[in-house]
Amino acid sequence: MGRKILLEKTDIENIHTYNVYRKEGGYSAVEKALKKMTPDEVVEEVKKSGLRGRGGAGFPAGMKWSFIAKPEGVPRYLLCNADESEPGTFKDRFLMEKIPHLLIEGMILSSYALGCNTSYIYIRGEYMWILRILEKALAEARQHGWLGKNILNSGYNLEIYVSPGAGAYICGEETALIESLEGKRGNPRMKPPFPAVKGLWQSPTVVNNVETLSSVVSIVNIGGDEYAKIGLGKSTGTKLISACGNIRKPGVYEIELGLSVEEFLYSDEYCGGINDGKRLKACIPGGSSVPVLPHYLVTKTAKGEQRLMTYESLSDGGFATGSMLGSGGFIVFDEDQCIVRNTWNFSRFYHHESCGQCSPCREGTGWMDKVLHRIEYGKGNMRDIDLLVSISKNIEGNTICPLGDAAAWPVASAIRHFREEFEWHISEPVKCLEKNYGLVKEPILEV
Ligand SMILES: Cc1cc2nc3c(=O)[nH]c(=O)nc-3n(C[C@H](O)[C@H](O)[C@H](O)COP(=O)(O)O)c2cc1C
Repeated sequence: MGRKILLEKTDIENIHTYNVYRKEGGYSAVEKALKKMTPDEVVEEVKKSGLRGRGGAGFPAGMKWSFIAKPEGVPRYLLCNADESEPGTFKDRFLMEKIPHLLIEGMILSSYALGCNTSYIYIRGEYMWILRILEKALAEARQHGWLGKNILNSGYNLEIYVSPGAGAYICGEETALIESLEGKRGNPRMKPPFPAVKGLWQSPTVVNNVETLSSVVSIVNIGGDEYAKIGLGKSTGTKLISACGNIRKPGVYEIELGLSVEEFLYSDEYCGGINDGKRLKACIPGGSSVPVLPHYLVTKTAKGEQRLMTYESLSDGGFATGSMLGSGGFIVFDEDQCIVRNTWNFSRFYHHESCGQCSPCREGTGWMDKVLHRIEYGKGNMRDIDLLVSISKNIEGNTICPLGDAAAWPVASAIRHFREEFEWHISEPVKCLEKNYGLVKEPILEV
């Protein structure tokens, strides 16, 4: 069995309640930190642990914390990013639903380390039932003295509030999240200034993912050095992976970073292999925003080395032959899946979710959606393939936030690895329509 830290106790009955969580050793990290450690010592442990942000970008958490500005008399804020709207990613939901006090404990530790007296959990609007779970858990924590004034007689005060979004993927981007929390439309901000200098209400702010903050509990409990021994190289610790698609056992798994992709995909402890004995066609290892890998690059890198579940190995080969660990949304396609159709599906999503501030993203996502739509429905021409490549290149790197990149990479990588499938859609439209939708007598949609 692989090492478990975050999900170690999730099978315990009623672990979502305060009494059971506490009985199982919960909040001992807060006791340790508030009684025996200074805020800077907590930051130091997180730095030593090598923990990297689990929201997608993998930025070292301790380093991010050390950037926070500390002007006299200005409040600082910690924001927990629970927006989780990336297609294929559903691991934060699992953690908050099963063991909400772990996140609250992690947030108390992180707020203490950063010198924040008010912190927020920004949760996607579709997770309303989890918002209620969190509010109940926060009330329990408050009632037992883990929140409020003078926690454990340490002189430290903290309040944590939960605030729901309204169903916009863009509000997961940290500066859009801040705008939304301030009650405005969730448009990403230009950087600099970075949130660590001017974030929520122009005050220094740190935004971290649910899983990142929950991981701080074990770092304080076992120490940064011990945590850094888990995992492989610069990919320390464990990572939650939400696995879905054509696999025998979809679900949320905790893996020790460094596990081989082959073991994750085929062993019964994790995904259990491809459904119905079919063959693997492709895999998106880190959520819909990261490049798709064709089957021959999933378990091996282009150099022929074993592909591992680490930040480094999954991106080995750059975008030519690699992908990214991203948010850990592991999407598997069997031999019968249509890459064109799936790529179009993602493009529709990004077109719908673009905030519209930057022209390359606002217009480009719409064009990609339109062109992929016509290829999928048998009305494409060969020039469309290079047109898509050109649109994706014009979006990439030319927008305020990375939503543009997230929209461009799936299209560019699908064409890079599956160009002949796009060509087939164009040269044999009727056969493709029949394969995807059954016998076609008339055009399904006017394009
Ligand atoms: C369009 C877009 C959506 C994002 N959605 C999320 C999200 O739902 N959850 C999340 O933690 N990070 C999301 N991010 C990344 C955040 O901007 C930010 O990097 C992250 O919350 C930082 O936390 P971490 O350092 O703990 O990973 C998104 C980024 C972009 C560009």
